Amino acid sequence: MTRPRARTLLCAALAILLQPGPPSLAQDATPAPESVPDGAKLARFHCGRCHVVTTGGGIGGIGSTPSFAALRAMEDWEARFDAFWTLPPHPSFTQVAGVTLPFDETRPPPIAPLLLTLEEVEAITRYAASIEAARLGAPVQSR
Ligand code: HEC
Repeated sequence: MTRPRARTLLCAALAILLQPGPPSLAQDATPAPESVPDGAKLARFHCGRCHVVTTGGGIGGIGSTPSFAALRAMEDWEARFDAFWTLPPHPSFTQVAGVTLPFDETRPPPIAPLLLTLEEVEAITRYAASIEAARLGAPVQSR
């Protein structure tokens, strides 16, 4: 009486075990392309409102705003990009989901706000890493 039942259970267990399971961790290391935000696109769309975001200058951007290439020439460019929303002028118009506090109701952003996730900020920083730093000359040295 119990034998066919045991066999059924065994078959069910085998069927589960032999099922093509989720890919192994090693295969999982590179996330699917559609799940990685496109840093270049994000930078053009969001930062390109003010910054020239491509290598070698180009057009667009606001004259008083440093290009990404110029920013890349700074030794600590990465730290600045990683937390750009804390550095003026960005706090007045930037929100990072789950990180920044909502805008002060009495001081709404003066321009269309910049809304990002941390993942998107990281993607933009990765994109910035791919930009060639502007050659702005060696720092002035006193002798
Ligand atoms: C509305 C215009 C505007 C937008 C949009 C904007 N920026 Fe800026 N950003 C500026 C200006 C102006 C400065 C120069 C500030 C200064 O000289 O103190 C600057 C400076 C920076 C700096 C250097 C800050 C420092 O203090 O060293 C970084 C990094 C930066 N921006 C990153 C970004 C990124 C990344 C984006 C897009 C996600 C972005 N910015 C979008 C106007 C803008």
